[in-house]
Amino acid sequence: MTKKIAVLPGDGIGQEIVTEAVKIIDCLQTDFDFKVELEEALVGGSAFDDCGSPLPESTMQLARQADAVLLGAVGGHKWEALDIAVRPEKGLLGLRAGLGLFANLRPAILYPQLADASTLKPEIVADLDIMIVRELTGGIYFGQPRGVRTLKNGEREGFNTLVYSEPEIRRIGKVAFDIAAKRNKRVCSVDKANVLECTELWREVMIDEADNYPEIELSHMYVDNAAMQLVRAPKQFDVMVTTNMFGDILSDAAAMLTGSIGMLPSASLDENGKGMYEPIHGSAPDIAGQGVANPLATILSVAMMLRYSLDEAALADRIEAAVRNVLDQGLRTQDIFSDGMRKVGTSEMGDAVVSAMRQ
Ligand code: IPM
Ligand code: MG
Repeated sequence: MTKKIAVLPGDGIGQEIVTEAVKIIDCLQTDFDFKVELEEALVGGSAFDDCGSPLPESTMQLARQADAVLLGAVGGHKWEALDIAVRPEKGLLGLRAGLGLFANLRPAILYPQLADASTLKPEIVADLDIMIVRELTGGIYFGQPRGVRTLKNGEREGFNTLVYSEPEIRRIGKVAFDIAAKRNKRVCSVDKANVLECTELWREVMIDEADNYPEIELSHMYVDNAAMQLVRAPKQFDVMVTTNMFGDILSDAAAMLTGSIGMLPSASLDENGKGMYEPIHGSAPDIAGQGVANPLATILSVAMMLRYSLDEAALADRIEAAVRNVLDQGLRTQDIFSDGMRKVGTSEMGDAVVSAMRQ
């Protein structure tokens, strides 16, 4: 049966970058004997504008039925004043939770062609290749109770709960160890075990689970130190595994090591390898609609989709090679532009990747 991809462009630059990613999928269909069905739906602020919910039931149903989900980005200034329950971000969180996408893989790879685009010295970041494994459906993002309450004295107090069950920790640990087994066999688990009981348990469970992976070297780091080490000596890391919120923060920092957050894809996987694929950057409302956003993170997300959910590793390689090719040609969107290169817009970049794939 033909596999189905749910295409959810979302908000801001989401539409523009997903259009380019779809060009790549179309090229796979016309030139590479690959067949897939695409169906588009609304999510985030655009869905809220359409029907009052950032995650309409029809979108959720499509995502459930599909073999994989391709997502652009959600959010924007326009919706910031909305009640938190219907903000665009809830659409994304609802997809993650509803589909059980607990394992978020965020590779931070420095393309040698972009060494100059990093704000760090080239020798610190050259050949960087880190995989951040972020727990995605638990922790403080989802913990109950949560809210803002008014105390007897009339003062308000906001509260959230950081909670992880042992199975939740163990399953994300397994994902990290399995990935490391195919890489350099080192996992650094990031926690705040010196202060937070929840992550004390996290550390304990990681140590216990590591017994099943004798070939993997497990180390531990407190999150504050990990943030520092990421910018001091990032190449010490192979796979990092951490909680939902720490992973959110550390993956943005890691992204910047590679020059631009506009280059980094991500995969969010469930227990069976079904996944949602999205760039790790947001909806960038400041540049939305201008045709200048970098589509490469979304295009590389399609490559991850082929590799992790659609069992088409050779096609994934092909896309990644095409991206390296356009960088070699000197094509740069504004976020990765440097002197001597040729500045291109979103669609020109997408077209260039398609041509490179055909070569
Ligand atoms: C990310 C984003 C999201 C998150 C937002 C948009 C809810 O920052 O995917 O990193 O915090 O997880
Ligand atoms: Mg984030």
